[in-house]
Amino acid sequence: MKRDVLAAVLASALILPAAIATAGPIEDRQAIMKGNGRDTKLGGDMLKGVTPFDAATANKILANYAAAAKAFPAHFPANSKTGAETEAAPAIWDKPADWKAATAKFQADTAAAAALKPADAATFGKAFGMVTANCKSCHEGFRIKKG
Ligand code: HEC
Repeated sequence: MKRDVLAAVLASALILPAAIATAGPIEDRQAIMKGNGRDTKLGGDMLKGVTPFDAATANKILANYAAAAKAFPAHFPANSKTGAETEAAPAIWDKPADWKAATAKFQADTAAAAALKPADAATFGKAFGMVTANCKSCHEGFRIKKG
Protein backbone atom coordinates (compact mmCIF):
# COMPACT_ATOMS: atom_id res chain seq x y z
CA MET A 1 0.00 0.00 0.00
CA LYS A 2 2.70 2.47 1.01
CA ARG A 3 4.64 1.63 -2.13
CA ASP A 4 1.60 2.29 -4.27
CA VAL A 5 1.14 5.72 -2.73
CA LEU A 6 4.81 6.51 -3.27
CA ALA A 7 4.61 5.36 -6.89
CA ALA A 8 1.56 7.57 -7.48
CA VAL A 9 3.31 10.58 -5.95
CA LEU A 10 6.41 9.95 -8.03
CA ALA A 11 4.32 9.56 -11.17
CA SER A 12 2.44 12.80 -10.68
CA ALA A 13 5.69 14.62 -9.95
CA LEU A 14 7.45 13.20 -13.00
CA ILE A 15 4.75 13.67 -15.59
CA LEU A 16 4.15 17.30 -16.36
CA PRO A 17 0.79 18.47 -17.61
CA ALA A 18 0.52 18.10 -21.36
CA ALA A 19 -0.09 21.77 -22.03
CA ILE A 20 2.30 24.34 -20.64
CA ALA A 21 1.49 27.96 -21.43
CA THR A 22 4.53 29.65 -22.97
CA ALA A 23 5.44 32.36 -25.45
CA GLY A 24 3.27 31.58 -28.48
CA PRO A 25 1.46 28.92 -30.49
CA ILE A 26 4.62 27.28 -31.84
CA GLU A 27 6.18 26.98 -28.39
CA ASP A 28 2.86 25.78 -26.98
CA ARG A 29 2.46 22.99 -29.52
CA GLN A 30 6.11 22.00 -29.16
CA ALA A 31 5.64 21.82 -25.38
CA ILE A 32 2.65 19.51 -25.88
CA MET A 33 4.75 17.29 -28.15
CA LYS A 34 7.68 17.31 -25.72
CA GLY A 35 5.22 15.98 -23.13
CA ASN A 36 4.25 13.22 -25.58
CA GLY A 37 7.93 12.41 -26.01
CA ARG A 38 8.52 12.16 -22.25
CA ASP A 39 5.42 10.03 -21.72
CA THR A 40 6.36 7.72 -24.59
CA LYS A 41 9.84 7.19 -23.12
CA LEU A 42 8.30 6.47 -19.72
CA GLY A 43 5.70 4.07 -21.13
CA GLY A 44 8.21 2.36 -23.40
CA ASP A 45 10.57 1.78 -20.49
CA MET A 46 7.76 0.14 -18.51
CA LEU A 47 6.83 -2.10 -21.41
CA LYS A 48 10.46 -3.11 -22.02
CA GLY A 49 10.85 -3.91 -18.31
CA VAL A 50 13.47 -1.19 -17.81
CA THR A 51 11.18 0.11 -15.06
CA PRO A 52 8.50 -1.98 -13.30
CA PHE A 53 4.91 -1.74 -14.57
CA ASP A 54 2.89 0.70 -12.49
CA ALA A 55 -0.82 0.99 -13.26
CA ALA A 56 -1.19 4.54 -11.88
CA THR A 57 1.67 5.79 -14.07
CA ALA A 58 0.33 3.90 -17.09
CA ASN A 59 -3.12 5.44 -16.71
CA LYS A 60 -1.62 8.91 -16.18
CA ILE A 61 0.37 8.54 -19.40
CA LEU A 62 -2.80 7.60 -21.31
CA ALA A 63 -4.72 10.51 -19.77
CA ASN A 64 -1.88 12.86 -20.76
CA TYR A 65 -2.01 11.59 -24.36
CA ALA A 66 -5.76 12.20 -24.55
CA ALA A 67 -5.37 15.73 -23.14
CA ALA A 68 -2.49 16.43 -25.53
CA ALA A 69 -4.49 15.24 -28.54
CA LYS A 70 -7.39 17.49 -27.54
CA ALA A 71 -5.24 20.57 -26.99
CA PHE A 72 -2.83 20.19 -29.92
CA PRO A 73 -4.90 21.30 -32.98
CA ALA A 74 -5.73 24.69 -31.44
CA HIS A 75 -2.09 25.81 -31.76
CA PHE A 76 -1.81 26.15 -35.56
CA PRO A 77 -3.00 29.66 -36.48
CA ALA A 78 -2.17 30.78 -40.03
CA ASN A 79 0.53 33.12 -38.72
CA SER A 80 2.52 30.25 -37.15
CA LYS A 81 3.79 28.52 -40.31
CA THR A 82 7.36 29.64 -39.72
CA GLY A 83 9.59 30.76 -36.88
CA ALA A 84 10.62 29.40 -33.49
CA GLU A 85 12.38 26.50 -35.27
CA THR A 86 9.02 24.94 -36.07
CA GLU A 87 9.01 21.50 -37.64
CA ALA A 88 5.37 21.85 -38.69
CA ALA A 89 5.00 20.92 -42.37
CA PRO A 90 3.17 23.23 -44.84
CA ALA A 91 0.73 20.31 -45.42
CA ILE A 92 -0.97 21.27 -42.13
CA TRP A 93 -2.28 24.42 -43.79
CA ASP A 94 -2.27 23.21 -47.43
CA LYS A 95 -4.27 20.02 -46.82
CA PRO A 96 -6.68 21.01 -44.04
CA ALA A 97 -8.97 17.99 -44.52
CA ASP A 98 -6.06 15.55 -44.16
CA TRP A 99 -4.78 17.43 -41.12
CA LYS A 100 -8.24 17.40 -39.56
CA ALA A 101 -8.48 13.64 -40.15
CA ALA A 102 -5.05 13.04 -38.54
CA THR A 103 -5.81 15.12 -35.44
CA ALA A 104 -9.31 13.59 -35.13
CA LYS A 105 -7.81 10.08 -35.33
CA PHE A 106 -5.26 10.97 -32.65
CA GLN A 107 -8.10 12.22 -30.41
CA ALA A 108 -10.25 9.13 -31.02
CA ASP A 109 -7.39 6.66 -30.50
CA THR A 110 -6.07 8.36 -27.34
CA ALA A 111 -9.60 8.49 -25.86
CA ALA A 112 -10.15 4.79 -26.67
CA ALA A 113 -6.74 3.90 -25.20
CA ALA A 114 -7.40 5.83 -21.97
CA ALA A 115 -10.84 4.15 -21.70
CA LEU A 116 -9.13 0.73 -21.52
CA LYS A 117 -7.88 1.76 -18.04
CA PRO A 118 -5.12 -0.87 -18.04
CA ALA A 119 -4.38 -2.70 -14.79
CA ASP A 120 -1.66 -4.89 -16.31
CA ALA A 121 1.26 -4.48 -18.70
CA ALA A 122 -0.39 -6.45 -21.54
CA THR A 123 -3.42 -4.16 -21.64
CA PHE A 124 -1.21 -1.11 -21.33
CA GLY A 125 0.85 -2.41 -24.24
CA LYS A 126 -2.28 -2.60 -26.36
CA ALA A 127 -3.37 0.93 -25.38
CA PHE A 128 0.16 2.28 -25.91
CA GLY A 129 0.30 0.72 -29.38
CA MET A 130 -3.03 2.29 -30.36
CA VAL A 131 -1.65 5.72 -29.45
CA THR A 132 1.89 5.46 -30.76
CA ALA A 133 0.86 4.33 -34.25
CA ASN A 134 -0.34 7.93 -34.60
CA CYS A 135 3.07 9.44 -33.77
CA LYS A 136 4.70 7.90 -36.80
CA SER A 137 1.88 8.39 -39.29
CA CYS A 138 1.30 12.02 -38.39
CA HIS A 139 5.00 12.88 -38.31
CA GLU A 140 5.44 11.35 -41.77
CA GLY A 141 2.77 13.58 -43.24
CA PHE A 142 2.93 16.72 -41.16
CA ARG A 143 6.33 17.13 -39.53
CA ILE A 144 9.58 18.14 -41.20
CA LYS A 145 12.33 16.94 -38.94
CA LYS A 146 15.17 19.43 -38.76
CA GLY A 147 18.74 18.80 -37.67
C1 HEC B 1 -1.66 14.84 -35.48
C2 HEC B 1 -0.25 14.92 -35.73
C3 HEC B 1 0.73 14.46 -34.70
C4 HEC B 1 0.66 13.37 -33.87
C5 HEC B 1 -0.44 12.34 -33.75
C6 HEC B 1 1.88 13.36 -33.10
N1 HEC B 1 2.68 14.41 -33.44
FE1 HEC B 1 4.48 14.86 -32.62
N2 HEC B 1 4.61 16.52 -33.82
C7 HEC B 1 3.66 16.91 -34.75
C8 HEC B 1 4.06 18.17 -35.36
C9 HEC B 1 3.29 18.94 -36.41
C10 HEC B 1 5.28 18.53 -34.76
C11 HEC B 1 6.11 19.79 -35.04
C12 HEC B 1 5.62 20.94 -34.12
C13 HEC B 1 6.39 22.23 -34.34
O1 HEC B 1 7.65 22.22 -34.30
O2 HEC B 1 5.74 23.28 -34.56
C14 HEC B 1 5.61 17.46 -33.80
C15 HEC B 1 6.74 17.44 -33.00
C16 HEC B 1 7.06 16.45 -32.08
C17 HEC B 1 8.24 16.45 -31.24
C18 HEC B 1 9.32 17.54 -31.19
C19 HEC B 1 8.89 18.60 -30.17
C20 HEC B 1 9.95 19.70 -30.02
O3 HEC B 1 9.80 20.77 -30.63
O4 HEC B 1 10.94 19.47 -29.30
C21 HEC B 1 8.18 15.31 -30.47
C22 HEC B 1 9.19 14.85 -29.41
C23 HEC B 1 6.97 14.60 -30.83
N3 HEC B 1 6.32 15.31 -31.82
C24 HEC B 1 6.58 13.39 -30.29
C25 HEC B 1 5.36 12.76 -30.57
C26 HEC B 1 4.93 11.52 -29.98
C27 HEC B 1 5.73 10.69 -28.99
C28 HEC B 1 3.69 11.26 -30.48
C29 HEC B 1 2.77 10.09 -30.18
C30 HEC B 1 2.45 9.80 -28.82
C31 HEC B 1 3.36 12.33 -31.41
N4 HEC B 1 4.40 13.21 -31.43
C32 HEC B 1 2.18 12.40 -32.14
C33 HEC B 1 2.50 16.23 -35.07
C34 HEC B 1 2.03 15.10 -34.44
